[in-house]
Amino acid sequence: MCGIIGYTGEKYAPEILIQGLKKLEYRGYDSAGIAVSKNGKTLICKNRGKVSALEQKSADTDLSGTVCGIGHTRWATHGEPSDINSHPHRGGENVTLVHNGIIENYLELKKELKAKGYNPISQTDTEIAAMLIDSMYNGDPIKAIFDSISKIHGSFALGIMFRDYPNTIYAVRRDSPLIIGVGENENFIASDIPAILPYTKKYYLSDENEVAVVTKSDIRFFTNDGKEIHKDLMTAAWDEQSAQKSGYKHFMLKEIYEQPKVIGDTINAYKNKAELFENCSFDFNIKGKIHIAACGSAMHAALLGKHVIEKLARIPVSVEIASEFRYNDPILDKDDIVIAISQSGETADTLAAVRLAKSKGIRTLGIVNVWGSTLSREADDIIYTYAGPEICVATTKAYLCQTVILDMLALKLGRAVMGEDEYLKQVNLLSSLPEYISNALKLDSTCKRLAEKNIAAEHQFYIGRGQDFCVCTEASLKLKEVSYVHSESYAAGELKHGTISLIVDGTPVIAVMTERSRIAKTISNIKEVVSRGASVICVTYDDVDVSDFCKNKITIDAPSEFLAPVIANIPLQLYAYHIADGRGNDVDKPRNLAKSVTVE
Ligand code: AGP
Ligand code: GLU
Repeated sequence: MCGIIGYTGEKYAPEILIQGLKKLEYRGYDSAGIAVSKNGKTLICKNRGKVSALEQKSADTDLSGTVCGIGHTRWATHGEPSDINSHPHRGGENVTLVHNGIIENYLELKKELKAKGYNPISQTDTEIAAMLIDSMYNGDPIKAIFDSISKIHGSFALGIMFRDYPNTIYAVRRDSPLIIGVGENENFIASDIPAILPYTKKYYLSDENEVAVVTKSDIRFFTNDGKEIHKDLMTAAWDEQSAQKSGYKHFMLKEIYEQPKVIGDTINAYKNKAELFENCSFDFNIKGKIHIAACGSAMHAALLGKHVIEKLARIPVSVEIASEFRYNDPILDKDDIVIAISQSGETADTLAAVRLAKSKGIRTLGIVNVWGSTLSREADDIIYTYAGPEICVATTKAYLCQTVILDMLALKLGRAVMGEDEYLKQVNLLSSLPEYISNALKLDSTCKRLAEKNIAAEHQFYIGRGQDFCVCTEASLKLKEVSYVHSESYAAGELKHGTISLIVDGTPVIAVMTERSRIAKTISNIKEVVSRGASVICVTYDDVDVSDFCKNKITIDAPSEFLAPVIANIPLQLYAYHIADGRGNDVDKPRNLAKSVTVE
């Protein structure tokens, strides 16, 4: 997803803007640009392609003496990636801005503005927003902004500069994320915390439909009735070091290896001896059904959540693809709850699911990794994952933390049903998870070897039953998104109902077997694919004998069958990583992907 950075202070603005955009590259983008105030004018450098190209372009431009500017990495929604569609965009003589989001009614606005003599030169909705603000401007930037956003339908985080106010940045948001960084005689705007960490850990959260007015020495917030409002100053829990690679080749590998620690942190945040979530305001007395809305990997965590909550607590759970849920007119009973899972807390479809639930009076619980994110502010109650900053676009540690939170939720909700002895046994085993994860990381060389064996395969399949099928869904996505290899996950018993036709000599099939009651059945399915030439990798326990049909066994050890999916994910993450790295891919920033999809 796009990234916004803004700086006003006494340092050379282009350098700070470029470095800030580099810290936001992980969000995924296709073009980049900056605008700075110089001698009463706003100068723009922008291009399709990488921030490094922008850095060269700005170095070739005389931007000397500039101390205020805005920057943007674009993830195109309206108009192909091109120099002219890149941000910043101008509106008339007065306005230059950057935008994250979608102006849904931009065509209607474009017609009105063209009738007023404006002549858009790009295909973007963003340029229309710039022209709209210019058309509303009569010397008062704040009024022009409020008058404009009252006409805009859709989502936006805007960083805006006015020619008449050269060293001031205006910022306003709706749905898309934006923070205001507080420095020493310098201030910032940014889409996300990593962009400002080299300069400050202090920031304000920009709330919806508030205009922030940012100069080097002052930050003020206004509501559309003209009132100035006070905001609480926040301090980022992360430091710059934690957002760096720390010697690993890629953030993805670093974040895989951080899992023992962050899983421990997440468990310790909510486990107090035998009690779970005592410090959480959420009312765990659920009378109705649980609906879990999420996207991508978070949705795969939800699948495991459904499995364990229904198994332990016997509460019906539906997993909702958030982009569907928001338009399905879902059947929600007043005693139901909606759980939204999101690493970023900014995924548009997941936020829309929460808003839909709240509009129907349904209690909402957010499971989120980013403090201060929109989800953390809009859900009725929040459970944080403690994964820390996740820079790689493909999630690993945050997803794993989500699955552990759901395991703990299942234990909490299922305590009465499972009986105190079994509950205490499983809760006590939680504390050993970090050690078991550390042990699983020792499978790295095995996973690398198997990855090299299958490096050229263009199609791979993951099969499993029950909890293992849930693991397969995420393992398959992980492989696809970082290696660009086609992959499918299948309930092992379902493969023979069609897709088995795709199995030919040498097709890699990864079989996951941790749910003991289903292992024998899965072995039958493995034999079905082996008899058609598949090359099978089995992820299972030491005591499961696969020697007569599988030469490549990845042996895992887990604290319990219930917690085994957490462990089974580790070698599958490493396998995907090594295939992607072996194929020479940009592992941390896969093509076409964004870290947070803040548009529909
Ligand atoms: C992560 O590996 C995926 N790239 C993606 O599916 C992600 O899980 C999804 O976009 C949801 O993001 P969120 O957790 O920030 O809401
Ligand atoms: N909708 C705008 C465009 O396509 C902004 C996209 C983004 O969030 O980067 O340029």
